[in-house]
Amino acid sequence: MCGIVGYVGKDEALPKLTKGLKTLEYRGYDSAGVAVLQNKEIYVVKDKGRIANLEELLKHEHIKGNIGIAHTRWATHGVPSKENAHPHMDDEKRFAVVHNGIIENYLELKDFLIDKGYTFKSQTDTEVIPLLLNYYYKKEKDVLKALGKTLQDLKGSYAILVISPLLGKTILAAKKNSPLVIGKNESGIFAASDIPALISYTNEFYFLEDGDVALLNDTITFYNDEFKPIKKKSKKIDWDMEATNKNGYEDYMLKEIMEQPEALKNTLNGIIGKKIEFLNFSLDKDYLDSITNIHIVACGTAMHAGLSGKYAIEKLCRIPVTVSVASEFRYQDPIINAKTLCIFISQSGETADTIAALKLARDKGAVTLAITNVFESSITREAKYTIYTHAGPEIAVASTKAYTSQVGILVALTLYIKEIRDGHSKESDKLKEELINLPKLMDVVLADKDIYKDYAKRMYKVRDLFYIGRGNDYNIAMEGSLKLKEISYIHSEAYPAGELKHGPIALIEDGTFVFGIATDAKVEEKTLSNLEEVKARGANIVLVADKEEAKDMDIIKIPKVNPILAPILAVIPLQFIAYYIAKEKGLDVDMPRNLAKSVTVE
Ligand code: M6R
Repeated sequence: MCGIVGYVGKDEALPKLTKGLKTLEYRGYDSAGVAVLQNKEIYVVKDKGRIANLEELLKHEHIKGNIGIAHTRWATHGVPSKENAHPHMDDEKRFAVVHNGIIENYLELKDFLIDKGYTFKSQTDTEVIPLLLNYYYKKEKDVLKALGKTLQDLKGSYAILVISPLLGKTILAAKKNSPLVIGKNESGIFAASDIPALISYTNEFYFLEDGDVALLNDTITFYNDEFKPIKKKSKKIDWDMEATNKNGYEDYMLKEIMEQPEALKNTLNGIIGKKIEFLNFSLDKDYLDSITNIHIVACGTAMHAGLSGKYAIEKLCRIPVTVSVASEFRYQDPIINAKTLCIFISQSGETADTIAALKLARDKGAVTLAITNVFESSITREAKYTIYTHAGPEIAVASTKAYTSQVGILVALTLYIKEIRDGHSKESDKLKEELINLPKLMDVVLADKDIYKDYAKRMYKVRDLFYIGRGNDYNIAMEGSLKLKEISYIHSEAYPAGELKHGPIALIEDGTFVFGIATDAKVEEKTLSNLEEVKARGANIVLVADKEEAKDMDIIKIPKVNPILAPILAVIPLQFIAYYIAKEKGLDVDMPRNLAKSVTVE
C-alpha cells in the first residue's frame, strides 16, 4: 500500500529510484513521482498512472543529482491525480516528502496550518508533513528539531523519507506502524518500503523500529523516538534475485501458480520427520493442555487459509477454533486471554489490521504466533513466535502460492499440536505422508492447464459466478470466488451449498455458471443434491471433485486426498480459471484495479 524508495550516494539517483519503484509497484499503482536534489534545488516530477508513465515524463526532463526520493501510490485520501501524487512539498520548496501510511489527525493539523497561513494543493493527508516541517523549521531553525516536532504531531502510521536543500546530501527517514528498510553498498545508501526493492543492490539491511529516525548521507545515523543516537546491527538476507523475475512467464500470477509444488515443498522442508519440528518455535504439552481455544486472525486469502486451519485443528485436535477477519477482530472485543493461542497469518507480514490485532491479543495475555512468508517483516517483530512459509517472493496481487503454503503449514501445525497432546497415531502418520506427497499431486493438477483455459473461454463473458461447497469445500469456494472477482472484475459469491435455498438461489438463471466443490465423501452426496437444485433452475454446473463423472455436470477431476488437504489441490483449477478469464478479458492480472499487494493501512 504505497511504496517509497530513496537513494543517496555517488551515482545518479534517478535510475536507482525508478528501478526501486518498479519492484514496489505491486504495493500501489494509482500514481508515481520522484524528487531529486539538483544544485541545491528540489525537482519534482509526478503524475497519475503507472511508473511506465512516470518514466516517459522523465525522458523529457534533464534532472541530475545523487540524492532523491520516490513514491508509488495507492490512494487513500484524495483521488488518483497529479496533485495528490507524492512527493509533496511546502511552498518554499524546503522539504519534499514521500509517505506510506495514514495520518489520522490530518484534518486537525490541516486546520492548524491553514490558521497559520498555509495553503494546501492536494486532498492528501500527507501534505501536512512538509508544511509542518516548514512551520517548525521557521520556529526552531533546525531541521532535526523540526522533524522531531512534526513527528510528535502525527497520529496514525507513517514511513517517510524527506529531502531538503537545507540538509544537502542527506535523506531523513522515519517510521511508525509502516515498514521501512535501509540498505547500504559501495555506491551509497538506500531506503525502501521492502527488501525486494533493494535486493539487487545489497543483501544487508537495517530494520527501523517504530519511532526510529535515520539520517542517511555518507553513513547512517540512527536515533530513537527521543532523538538519542542508537546503534543498529544489520541483517543479511539470502534472497535469490531470480525469484523476483517472471522467468519467461507472461505474468507473475501464472508463474506463482506454477511454483506451488516447489513452494509447498520448501515450506515443509525440514519440518516433517518422525516428529514435527519447527525452527525457533515450540510449545510444550503443559501449555497445549492448558489452552481452552485457538483464535486465528488474518485478511483475505490468508483468512481463507485460516478457515482451513480451523477445519484441520478442530477435526484432529478437538480444540475450538475461531477465525476472525483482522479488521473486525479489534472492534469485536474478542474473548481471549492467557489460555488462548492466537495465530496471525499474513503473506506480507505487513498487513496493518493483522498486526494491530496481534498487538491487541498480546496485550490481553495470549501467546501469539505469526505465520508469514516475508523474512523480518513487521509482524515477526511483534509476535512471540514466527513460522515462515518458504513460498518465495509473491509479487502478483492475487495470492496463490502463499495460500497453498499457508494451508500446508497449518496442517503441519495441527499435526504438531496433536502429536504433543495425544502422541503418535496411525492417523497422523498417514496424514503426514499425504502432506509430503502433495507437491507431486499438485503437479498432476497443474498439468491440466488447457482444460482450465477452455472453461475460461466458456465463462469470461458472464456477469455473475457462484461457488458452493460444504465444510472445507466451502472454504475453498470462498477462495475461488475471491480470486475470480479480484482479477476478472466479475461479480461472484461463495455459499455453503445447503444455504442456497435460503435466498441466494433466487439469483440463479438459465446459463448461470456454478462451481461445486466436493472433495469430502462425508458431504459429497449432499453437495451434489444442492447442485441438482441449481441445475433444475437452469445453471451450468462445473464440479471440482475427486471422481470421474457425475450426471449432466462438467467435472474437473483432482486426485483424492484427505479433505483436510483438499484445498491445496482443489484451489488450483479455480486459480487457473480466474487467471484465464482475466486474460480473455484483456486485463492486467498482476495489478488489478483498486488493489495493492500489501495493505499497510487500516
Ligand atoms: O499479506 P497478507 O497475507 O496479510 O494479505 C492479506 C490480503 O490482503 C490478501 O490475501 C488479499 O486478499 C489478496 N489480494 C488475495 O488474493
